[in-house]
Amino acid sequence: MAKMRVLSGIQPTSDSFHLGNYLGALKQWVELQEDHDAFYCIVDLHALTIETEPALIRKRTLASAAQLMALGISSKKSTLFVQSQVPQHNQLGWLMECMAGFGEASRMTQFKDKSLKFGTDSARVGLFTYPMLQAADILLYQADCVPVGEDQRQHIELTRDLAGRFNSRYGQTFTIPDGYILKTAAKINDLQEPSAKMSKSSGSESGVIEIMDTPEVNAKKIKSAITDAGNEVRFDEKEKPGISNLLTIHSAISGNSISSLESEFGDKGYGVFKSAVADVVVEYLRPIRQRALDLLEDEKFLVDLLHEGAAKARIVAAHTLEKAYKNLGTVA
Ligand code: TRP
Repeated sequence: MAKMRVLSGIQPTSDSFHLGNYLGALKQWVELQEDHDAFYCIVDLHALTIETEPALIRKRTLASAAQLMALGISSKKSTLFVQSQVPQHNQLGWLMECMAGFGEASRMTQFKDKSLKFGTDSARVGLFTYPMLQAADILLYQADCVPVGEDQRQHIELTRDLAGRFNSRYGQTFTIPDGYILKTAAKINDLQEPSAKMSKSSGSESGVIEIMDTPEVNAKKIKSAITDAGNEVRFDEKEKPGISNLLTIHSAISGNSISSLESEFGDKGYGVFKSAVADVVVEYLRPIRQRALDLLEDEKFLVDLLHEGAAKARIVAAHTLEKAYKNLGTVA
């Protein structure tokens, strides 16, 4: 039987992914490529919805690719590519904009939140049409499932609606993707504000573990993570959000169950436990960071790999776009 097709995307908006990105989504990308036909897209066009610098977008796109490979995305098992190198994304994006209602698009919470944050004057039109471009990202590859975090649920629902609408109006064109919301993935919170998820845009600088930070910096961040009243190492998200977050992190990386960690560290005190978490995280990230740095040394190699990925992606994308135009009735 043919393998199921998965597609996911990540924005190249910073120099480093963080531990929440990895444990919350990217780790599953790596696992899924083993038994799926996986397409992973660095969505640089989506990153243009906020102000960018030419040098930065280039640097961060390459840094994202290097980190994805260092984390285990293999160009042999997956198709890893940059969105702007596959023009069909914009082309199908327009068709999706023509399928979507204005009210429907206005209800997207990510748009509502961000436009509130930036104000309607500085919020870009691209922020409004973002979900329709995302729908195109997914539908071009006839993806069966889309591994994303909970925050993307609404965009996946919209994608399904748009695909269904297109299919019923113009004939079977797109696979309707399953929202594959990553339930099994660990939800990692900010080390300094453990009630909020680890995030570069909202979190505190010292609360975010960055993959590209030095081992020393990350060890220090973990050792200074905020802890809770008392001294018992126990999982209790209400009473002990800080310790619970550290237990989640240790468990996600070491593979030890939370309860075995509770028995190991329960009465040893917070200091000993935090040092153990720091060791586990730092030793895990050390070779990943090094691999990413090595890949970034040879920019040509990296760029060539991305070109190969885009060439593979364009074949699939062009095929779908052609079918969509044909079903719409455009003159070929
Ligand atoms: N909107 C997604 C995010 O913010 C990124 C994204 C763009 C994406 N295109 C996609 C995710 C296609 C999955 C599939 O995380």
